[in-house]
Amino acid sequence: MTQPKRIAVTGAAGQICYSMLYRIAAGEIYGPNQPVRLQLLEITPALGVLEAVKMELDDCAFPLLDSVVCTDDAKVALEGVDAALFVGAKPRGPGMERSDLIADNGKIFSILGKTLNEVGSSDVKVCVVGNPANTNAYILKANAPAINPRNITALTRLDHNRALTQLAHKTGSRIDQIKKMIIWGNHSTTQVPDITFATVDGKDAPSLVDESWAMNDFIPTVAKRGAAVIDARGSSSAASAANAVIDHMASWEKGTDAGDWVSMAVPSDGSYGIEEGLIYSVPVTCSNGDYTIISDLKPTDAMREKMKASEKELLDEKNTVADLI
Ligand code: NAD
Ligand code: LMR
Repeated sequence: MTQPKRIAVTGAAGQICYSMLYRIAAGEIYGPNQPVRLQLLEITPALGVLEAVKMELDDCAFPLLDSVVCTDDAKVALEGVDAALFVGAKPRGPGMERSDLIADNGKIFSILGKTLNEVGSSDVKVCVVGNPANTNAYILKANAPAINPRNITALTRLDHNRALTQLAHKTGSRIDQIKKMIIWGNHSTTQVPDITFATVDGKDAPSLVDESWAMNDFIPTVAKRGAAVIDARGSSSAASAANAVIDHMASWEKGTDAGDWVSMAVPSDGSYGIEEGLIYSVPVTCSNGDYTIISDLKPTDAMREKMKASEKELLDEKNTVADLI
């Protein structure tokens, strides 16, 4: 009998989780032969709604769902898990930047980092989703020195997926024909969606589109997509965010396709001159349950300038939360 993988999910009664938990329980992260146990965390007032989430999980009769724990005790949720998905945090509303959430959300990640440090496995795989995701992951890492820092990551796969679709629409191609997209930097408007190394059906992407489209249309469309969804929907992206978390974890767990890479915000190893330890989005390949940063690319001068600007924003955010790290 295969032991179930244990997955902690915070903010489990919220919007993103309502699109995400059922897909995890159906086997979309670990595959069709791996049972899962969900350890779901919420704040006390949301435990009633969380119970309804569990009722629906039960009513799906997922063959791979071993068990579900609902709790408002972070120690219970994070104890011994193989993966921890940190979704629970305030979302932004219209007119806000994600960094406006730092004051409220940063504290959550300082507290949960300490708890993870106390009860988590040292090799737990962490994906931070709550915004501002990169800096929240940085805070979590600083408060959890017993956890392998390489395993503390933040979500930029949603931006990566958005970039794939924009390029597919522009070039009239299918998503599966596009390889080697990159999102550099922060999950914010300074992020750098970069098609320099991308290919479309084997052809270099830059040869298929105008440079002015890539710089003045593609980059801002992807970087501001979160705000566009908020304007259209009245609340922030949920289904696409849930999908991206599953993609992020499934790539990490099961590996990336040969000849392709994905974007993950991970602790910088100093590549591209980015300060070591900052949670910075880079292209990575994954295999054997681990990731490798693609560190030998030569970004164009224009991209390098934007990459530094995104690093600067992360350094500023880090200074803002100095009391939490
Ligand atoms: P939501 O408000 O619907 O749900 C958040 C849930 O978190 C709520 O149920 C709330 O009770 C819970 N929560 C709050 N504090 C908590 C704590 N300390 N412990 C456990 N649970 C807690 O929000 P949502 O739409 O699910 O979004 C969640 C976060 O994800 C937001 O910060 C949002 O900005 C962010 N987000 C990130 C990305 C990304 O790509 N990185 C994409 C979309 C949304
Ligand atoms: C997104 O990119 O959709 C999320 O980060 C939510 C937001 O605030 O934009």
